Amino acid sequence: MVYFRPSRLSGSGLLLLCLILGADQSHALELNLTDSSNATCLYAKWQMNFTVTYETTNKTYKTVNISDLSNVTYEGSTCGDDQNGPRIAVQFGSGFSWIVNFTKHAPDYLIDTISFSYNIHNHTTFPDAEHKGIITIDNRVALNVPLNDIFRCNSLLTIENNNVTQHIWNVLVQAFVQNGTVSTKEYLCDEDKHATTVAPIIHTTVPSPTPTPTPKENPYVGNYSVRDGNSTCLLATMGLQLNITQDKVSSVININPNSTGVTGSCHPQTAQLRLNSSNIKYLDFVFAVKNENRFYLKEVNVSLNLANGSVFSIANNNLSYWDAPLGSSYMCHKEQTVSVSRTFQINTFELRVQPFNVMEGKYSTAQDCSADDDNFLVPIAVGAALAGVLILVLLAYFIGLKRHHAGYEQF
Ligand SMILES: *[C@@H]1O[C@H](CO)[C@@H](O)[C@H](O)[C@H]1NC(C)=O
Ligand SMILES: *[C@@H]1O[C@H](CO)[C@@H](O)[C@H](O)[C@H]1NC(C)=O
Ligand SMILES: *[C@@H]1O[C@H](CO)[C@@H](O)[C@H](O)[C@H]1NC(C)=O
Ligand SMILES: *[C@@H]1O[C@H](CO)[C@@H](O)[C@H](O)[C@H]1NC(C)=O
Ligand SMILES: *[C@@H]1O[C@H](CO)[C@@H](O)[C@H](O)[C@H]1NC(C)=O
Ligand SMILES: *[C@@H]1O[C@H](CO)[C@@H](O)[C@H](O)[C@H]1NC(C)=O
Ligand SMILES: *[C@@H]1O[C@H](CO)[C@@H](O)[C@H](O)[C@H]1NC(C)=O
Ligand SMILES: *[C@@H]1O[C@H](CO)[C@@H](O)[C@H](O)[C@H]1NC(C)=O
Ligand SMILES: *[C@@H]1O[C@H](CO)[C@@H](O)[C@H](O)[C@H]1NC(C)=O
Ligand SMILES: *[C@@H]1O[C@H](CO)[C@@H](O)[C@H](O)[C@H]1NC(C)=O
Ligand SMILES: *[C@@H]1O[C@H](CO)[C@@H](O)[C@H](O)[C@H]1NC(C)=O
Ligand SMILES: *[C@@H]1O[C@H](CO)[C@@H](O)[C@H](O)[C@H]1NC(C)=O
Repeated sequence: MVYFRPSRLSGSGLLLLCLILGADQSHALELNLTDSSNATCLYAKWQMNFTVTYETTNKTYKTVNISDLSNVTYEGSTCGDDQNGPRIAVQFGSGFSWIVNFTKHAPDYLIDTISFSYNIHNHTTFPDAEHKGIITIDNRVALNVPLNDIFRCNSLLTIENNNVTQHIWNVLVQAFVQNGTVSTKEYLCDEDKHATTVAPIIHTTVPSPTPTPTPKENPYVGNYSVRDGNSTCLLATMGLQLNITQDKVSSVININPNSTGVTGSCHPQTAQLRLNSSNIKYLDFVFAVKNENRFYLKEVNVSLNLANGSVFSIANNNLSYWDAPLGSSYMCHKEQTVSVSRTFQINTFELRVQPFNVMEGKYSTAQDCSADDDNFLVPIAVGAALAGVLILVLLAYFIGLKRHHAGYEQF
């Protein structure tokens, strides 16, 4: 039996407990297969789209995007039997078919092969196609998941083969479901382990401070740049971790640079870096010039989609972080926090930014954040009232700065 529910998030407590960033749920597919005794044997929910490149009659190539999967059927999906394993089979559009089969190899089950078929004969979908007939592409993925775990992958998975690109994301799937109960134990894909680590939002009646689950891994460091015509005008290198606090519970999210888009703009007095992904509508860093000789991070604007359908947006244009002389870059290897609001913080790792005066696409010498710390030494030394110590500290400080500068030229 095939139960197909319209895809808006509804009763699934498992899903509502989680903050799924950027889930445009409108085209999520969902399949709940039950066996002869009405017990769930396979559950899946996911999103996907496709790009197909094909040869035309005049020997050129055309590309079509298939992203409207609003009218799908699930014929041929099965729990499996003694001979055949479980299978998800999906049909949509003008003769497209997408099939995943599973096998059991205790203590795991395998997401075995993903097959995609398209009918190139259809002139509406594939105008001027040279070839006719149905083309099938098999991709063996051979992904192991422990039995009784539900596989989750919010990250974008890309399968490229024979001029077909498949994008699959926001995946939840469990085959060989035990006792008709979909597992609450999640097995994350590698991409998610590094990217979006999601904290459950637990609404307790007694407002007790819940410990903040922190991603076990630091975020990947991304290289972001903005171009102005032919030349790079803004550079940023950083690992980013967002910290959203709602109802006394914090959700900490690592940004995966590979699935993050970059845009921005450069002007004489301001520069903007905008990151976005399927998850993040926008995350803006706005830099400004002060006293005509320094720059700083003045503004952060953010908008994220939350799993409960709400949007989390915060803006603060009165910040003062990452202050450095114009013509140089600002650098901080250690973890630093940009506190945008009471409810939103950004932790940065391996940070280096240069929003102005970028020459030949390369960073200029850096001012390091450890110089910020060293400054504290000066008043302490004054407190000690030892002029000699003060001079020594200042000397050490300048030598230290010089070292930092020298260090960076090697990058
Ligand atoms: C799947 O369908 C069964 C039978 O209708 C239902 O009891 C179960 O709650 C459904 N599971 C999910 C995750 O939707
Ligand atoms: C399974 O559920 C359907 C409707 O949801 C019902 O008609 C049928 O009798 C049930 N079968 C069993 C074996 O419980
Ligand atoms: C090939 O055909 C397409 C439309 O079918 C047309 O746009 C394109 O210009 C043609 N190319 C050549 C080299 O004739
Ligand atoms: C498919 O989805 C991904 C992720 O949402 C998106 O980046 C991509 O542009 C989409 N491709 C098409 C052809 O719609
Ligand atoms: C959806 O699919 C059904 C059955 O294949 C078809 O009758 C119907 O016209 C389709 N609707 C749209 C909007 O494509
Ligand atoms: C081709 O695709 C269009 C749009 O999905 C559909 O209306 C039409 O019936 C298809 N034609 C054939 C020959 O399958
Ligand atoms: C899974 O599907 C692929 C391609 O259709 C097929 O070659 C393979 O034998 C199938 N595996 C199982 C276990 O059914
Ligand atoms: C894929 O498309 C490219 C052109 O974009 C073409 O040169 C190549 O032969 C195609 N490969 C296959 C397997 O169709
Ligand atoms: C399924 O039910 C059996 C018998 O009641 C029990 O021994 C087993 O632990 C259950 N499995 C799961 C995954 O809940
Ligand atoms: C980019 O640079 C190339 C070569 O240096 C030049 O020919 C071209 O006009 C430039 N384009 C723009 C938009 O400045
Ligand atoms: C997230 O923010 C909360 C509230 O400001 C704070 O208590 C918590 O330590 C932060 N977690 C991380 C990993 O930065
Ligand atoms: C990002 O992509 C690069 C190159 O494709 C790859 O080496 C790297 O592992 C990817 N990182 C993540 C976090 O997916």
